[in-house]
Amino acid sequence: MAEPMQLLIHSAKQVVQITTEKEQVLAGNQMKNIKLLNSKPEDGLSIVVDKKGSIVAVGFDSEINQKFRNTTFERRIDASDLCVLPGFIDAHTHPVWAGDRVHEFRMKLAGASYFDIHNAGGGIHLTVEHTKRATEEELFFSLRDRLLRMLRSGTTVVECKSGYGLSTETEMKLLRVLERAKRELTFVDISITYCGAHAIPKEMSEDSATKMILEEQLPEVSRAIRLGELSVDSIDVFCEKDVFGVENSRKILLAGKTMGLRTNFHADEIHAIGGSEMGAEIKADVISHLEKVSDETINTMAKNGCIGVMLPTTAYVLKLEAPPVRKLIEAGVPIALGSDFNPNAFCLSMPVVMHLACILFRMSLEEALVASTLNAAASLGISDTHGSIEVGKKADFVLVDVPTWEHLIYQFGEHDHLIQMVIKNGSVSYDKSGATK
Ligand code: NIG
Ligand code: FE
Repeated sequence: MAEPMQLLIHSAKQVVQITTEKEQVLAGNQMKNIKLLNSKPEDGLSIVVDKKGSIVAVGFDSEINQKFRNTTFERRIDASDLCVLPGFIDAHTHPVWAGDRVHEFRMKLAGASYFDIHNAGGGIHLTVEHTKRATEEELFFSLRDRLLRMLRSGTTVVECKSGYGLSTETEMKLLRVLERAKRELTFVDISITYCGAHAIPKEMSEDSATKMILEEQLPEVSRAIRLGELSVDSIDVFCEKDVFGVENSRKILLAGKTMGLRTNFHADEIHAIGGSEMGAEIKADVISHLEKVSDETINTMAKNGCIGVMLPTTAYVLKLEAPPVRKLIEAGVPIALGSDFNPNAFCLSMPVVMHLACILFRMSLEEALVASTLNAAASLGISDTHGSIEVGKKADFVLVDVPTWEHLIYQFGEHDHLIQMVIKNGSVSYDKSGATK
């Protein structure tokens, strides 16, 4: 008898694999060429998943039936009329915080800028005050609720930043909340980013905040990692005028790099102060935002293998000039997408992000999908196991009721209606019909 398997998906209409060549990241014209399988009138498509949650086979029903005729499956899913896509990977989020900032949305509609509000003690500072008062339990359950809402929009891996603590005590509290979610929540994979340098605490100067991060917070984070209490993946800094300048950002990022963290930071969002230039120079793994990046830096980023994470929700909410995404792609910088979920840009849905990226940043449908799957995985250093439907990779899928996959991006805001099921590591994490196993 053959080894029993966890799951057989059969009769699917389309399987969007992204790549079949084991590429770890796609750049330039490669972002336009995704691999996909289309069913034939008489033959649907199947995917087989083993007990470890890995993909074992992808192909036509007829071939898979033949090859696995002596295999038992714990679960079979009839995907007639459904398209199967890789689970989405949200490359940039700020999901642990309390309170809300709807009144600031009103202020922005009336003409206030992001920094008018921030410099008057609102924005991140206001969220920090609420977050400081919230208990770990409250923060965990609101995080869980947000991650579940992301799941229903097709997201199966999320990069999650701390950053609404600013003090050592509260930053550590946020990292513990993220660590608990990483260990306990099986419907999502979490990549944790320490972002203690998210704003200058009200009572401090930029230099004293930098000193506190270097001499207090990072040693504390490092101790917790050594003791196995935390598993932090990356370090982030908000490198921006009136926040952390280029030289302090460099120091913080390099200190994180020395600890073995990936460097993944905010630069060139509102003012061109040279943040991405410094990031390209230190070969940062990821630079987010890039609205103000220069042509010269784009070339250095491409040469040094930096991935650019684009955040269309923030550009949309703040009415920012779009980042030069076409130039970045043409120069060969791999592009990923993130929701940037935070109290300023309250969006949890990658299908909405992809739609906005197409319209605001002139990305093609294929580029937006690659940026939300394989390239987002690459930005988190996990594209050997995630981001495409290939044999050997994790079985993270979104099953969508659409004529062809493009409809999920085209039908703006309809993802709740279209997404029927989300599968994580081969088990059903979300089923719209409400049916259990
Ligand atoms: O990516 N730019 C810094 N961080 C967030 C905003 C955080 C906030 O306003 O609370 C961003 O846009
Ligand atoms: Fe952000």
